[in-house]
Amino acid sequence: MTQSQFTETMRENHQRAIDEATADVRFDAWIDGEAHTAAGGERFETRDPAIEKPITTVSRCGEEDVDAAVNAARETFEGEWGELTKSERSDAILDWAGVLRDHSEDLALLESLDTGKPLANAEYEVGKALDYIEYYAHIVRGEQGNQVPVADDVHAYATQEPYGVAGLIVPWNYPMILTSWKLGPALAAGNTVVLKPAENTPLTATRIAQLSEGVLPDGTLNVVHGFGDEVGAPLTRHEGVDKLSFTGEDRTGEVVMKAAAEQITPVTLELGGKSPFIVFPDANLEQAAEIAADGIFYNTGQSCDAFSRTVVHESVHDEFLDLFVEEAAAREIGDPLRDSTDFGPLASEQQFEKVREYVEVGKEEGATLAYGGEPIDPAGDSEGWFVEPTIFDDVDNDMRIAQEEIFGPVASVIGFEDYEEAIEIANSIDFGLASGVATRDLSLAHQAADDIDAGTVWVNQYGRLVPGTAFGGFKRSGIGRECAKETLEKYQQTKTVNVALDDPELRPRDE
Ligand code: NAI
Ligand code: MG
Repeated sequence: MTQSQFTETMRENHQRAIDEATADVRFDAWIDGEAHTAAGGERFETRDPAIEKPITTVSRCGEEDVDAAVNAARETFEGEWGELTKSERSDAILDWAGVLRDHSEDLALLESLDTGKPLANAEYEVGKALDYIEYYAHIVRGEQGNQVPVADDVHAYATQEPYGVAGLIVPWNYPMILTSWKLGPALAAGNTVVLKPAENTPLTATRIAQLSEGVLPDGTLNVVHGFGDEVGAPLTRHEGVDKLSFTGEDRTGEVVMKAAAEQITPVTLELGGKSPFIVFPDANLEQAAEIAADGIFYNTGQSCDAFSRTVVHESVHDEFLDLFVEEAAAREIGDPLRDSTDFGPLASEQQFEKVREYVEVGKEEGATLAYGGEPIDPAGDSEGWFVEPTIFDDVDNDMRIAQEEIFGPVASVIGFEDYEEAIEIANSIDFGLASGVATRDLSLAHQAADDIDAGTVWVNQYGRLVPGTAFGGFKRSGIGRECAKETLEKYQQTKTVNVALDDPELRPRDE
C-alpha cells in the first residue's frame, strides 16, 4: 500500500498509541515508593472508550492493600516527610512537578486514551493540573501562624499542622485535574497521601506516582487501584486516615460522609451539579450560544459544573436556539487523537447507557428534541461510546432531565419571562455547584450573581478556573472549596498555644 492509499482508521491509530503508551510501563499500585501487586493477585482491565478495547490491566486492590498504603503513609508522615521544613517540602513538590512537566506529553496521551477526551484537551488539562500543584507549593511558603492578644501575662499563638494521612478519592471525568486539586494542597500542607483513582481511569495516577520516585520520599504518595466498595470504602473508614477528600456522585458522597463519621474524619466533598446558564434578553446571543455549547459539550458533557440547564428569555428564545443548534452541529466528533477533534466519546459504557436512557426520559416527559440524541460511530469502525451532542427544548424545570445529573452532552433549554422567574428556575434544584449568566448589563449580572445559590457564577463565560479562585458547591453539591488558598487550610488543623507568663525575674546562671 502506498502512502497516499493509506488511510488510517481510528481503531488502528488507537491500537498503535496504546502499544506505545503502555510498552515500558506496568500499572501496579504504588506503595512506599515501589510498585505493589495486589494482595489478592488479581488484576482488572481499563478500556479505551473510543474503540471499546482494553488498554492494559491494573492491580485490583482490597482492604489489605489499603492497610499497607495507609501504614506506609503514616510512617513517612512521622518520618521523612514530616521532618522537612516547609520550604524543603515546597522544593520537593516543585521538583516533582518539574518531572511531571517533562512527561506531560506521555501523561496527556494516557489521559486521552483512558477517558476518551480529545488529546488537545488532555494536554491543556495536564498543564492546568501541574499549575495547581505548583500553586500550593508556592503559597505554603508564605503561610504564617498568628498571635492572639489575650492579656499582658498571657502569650497565645496559633500554628497550623497537617492532619497526617490524607485519603483522596477521585472520579474519571478529569483524572489529572481533580487529582491535582487534592494532591497539591494535601502535600503542601504536610500530609502524606493515599490516592484512589477511579477504576475506569487509573493510568495517569499511576504514572505520576511512579514519577515521584526519588523526588518525594518513599511513602509520601501512595496509589491504590480498584473499585469503590473494595478500595474506596476501606479507605473512608480506615482508622489511620486523618482527612478525606472525595469527588464524585452525590449519593456516593453521602456514603463517604457516613463512613467518615464513624472515625470523626473531616471530609471535603465535591459532588454533582445541574448548573443553570441564564441568557438574558440583552445578551450577545452568538457569544451566549458559544458559551452554552462549551458549557455542555466540553468533555462530552461529563463535567460536574456543566451548563446542563440553559435558561433563556422568551423574547430571544428562537434566535438563541438556532444559534445553539448551529454550535452543536459544528462540534467535530471523532478520533480523540486527531488534532481537530473537539468532541470525543463518553468515558464508559455505563455513561453511554445513562445518556441513552435520559434521552428517552426527555422524550417521554414531552421535551422537544431540537438536536442530536442518537449514538454514532463517526469513523465507521470504532465501536466506541459516541453519542451526538443533544439539545432538548421546551423543557420544564420539574422534568427529570432538568433535575437529575445526566453527566453527558445533553442540554435542557428552559424558557423564562421575567427576572424573578429566571432566578427561581436557577435555584429550584438540589444542587448548587456552578452557574452562569449572559448579559451586557453588568448591574444585572451582579444582581443575578447575588441571587443565584451556587458556589461559582460565571459572567459571559464558562468554566474559567485558575489557581486561587475557589470552586465547590452550595446545597447537595458538596462541602468545602477546592482550587483556592482556603483549601490548604482544609488539610491542616489549627493548634493554639496559650502560655502563662511569669513575672519577669532574672535567674542567675546555673554554675
Ligand atoms: P462514583 O461517585 O461512584 O465514583 C467516584 C469515585 O468514588 C470512584 O473512584 C469510585 O471508585 C469511588 N467510590 C465509589 N463508591 C465508593 C464508596 N462506597 N466509598 C468510597 N469511594 C467510592 O461515580 P461513578 O459511579 O463513577 O459515576 C456515576 C455518576 O456520578 C455519573 O454518571 C455522574 O452523574 C456522577 N459523577 C459526578 C462527578 C462529579 O464530578 N460531580 C464525577 C463522577 C461521577
Ligand atoms: Mg459508582
